[in-house]
Amino acid sequence: MKEEQASSTAFTVLQGILLTASKPIYAGVVAEEVEAAAREILAASEEGRRRLQQVESPLYRTLAPLAERLALPGFALHYVLRKRFIEEAALKALADGYTQVVSLGAGFDTLEWRLHRQHPEVTFIEIDHPATSAVKREALKVSGENLHLLAVDLAEHDLEAVLRDCTAFDPARPTLYICEGVLVYLPPDAVTGLFATLKRLSGAGTRFVFTAVSPIGSPRNNTGPLLRLYLALKNEPLAWNLEQADLEAFVTLQGYRLIDQANDADLAPRYLPGGPAGPLHQGEFLALAEAE
Ligand SMILES: C[S@@+](CC[C@H](N)C(=O)[O-])C[C@H]1O[C@@H](n2cnc3c(N)ncnc32)[C@H](O)[C@@H]1O
Repeated sequence: MKEEQASSTAFTVLQGILLTASKPIYAGVVAEEVEAAAREILAASEEGRRRLQQVESPLYRTLAPLAERLALPGFALHYVLRKRFIEEAALKALADGYTQVVSLGAGFDTLEWRLHRQHPEVTFIEIDHPATSAVKREALKVSGENLHLLAVDLAEHDLEAVLRDCTAFDPARPTLYICEGVLVYLPPDAVTGLFATLKRLSGAGTRFVFTAVSPIGSPRNNTGPLLRLYLALKNEPLAWNLEQADLEAFVTLQGYRLIDQANDADLAPRYLPGGPAGPLHQGEFLALAEAE
């Protein structure tokens, strides 16, 4: 990632949300406040305003689905569906008495920002790279007592030390950790290390909702030809991948219990009452686990 620039993929996630929200067939699938917050963040920076203009241009709206089919079929809609799954996991955790939510690589996701006002008794913490964090702080005017944006480069700083040094973080609070669209970029030992870190930080009962990606060569991955070619040319396969069939064993090995999981076949009936209007993304799936 370029040091001074906010994450390009964090902007792309917001574009996917707005593209999905613009389709009449998906009316109601993206909540109005989610769409409004996405616009607010994009409007706050030069790059964001460029991305917003793109999404609003008829030419972009025509070409984006074609480009998506060549790279990652169904991914704009997938952003929306995966966020619905994570939001449900967060609401369930709050209903179950969890009082701390920590999002790792939160990007421009607005879940914590939306929830912190309704749940003043809950501590919300987000960690992201300083350049991305700064754009979000400015855009959403984050100053709430119970929402803390930690601007930290996790490639340079140890997560456990960062949280232990954070006065807002309370290791005694039952905690839900969120890691959305991030683990795929980490080497396998960093992923297993993260599971151990979260358990050490917050103990048994800690919940962890995360995304994982099945290998590019898997029959469960419909990555398009353009992205396959790009990854092959860069000699850059996904840093961490996992077949969904191996998820439960993997989670168990980390000392967690798998509570829920969902892929395209589960997400569509859960969150798309009218069914999908195009291809669904296959490859990235969601998991919710609890530390034993
Ligand atoms: C694909 S985006 C996902 C954003 C968000 N979780 C979502 O799904 O909407 C990956 C995020 O990880 C963050 N990230 C990448 N490397 C990081 C690092 N070394 N330290 C902190 N955050 C990092 C990026 O800034 C970006 O916001």
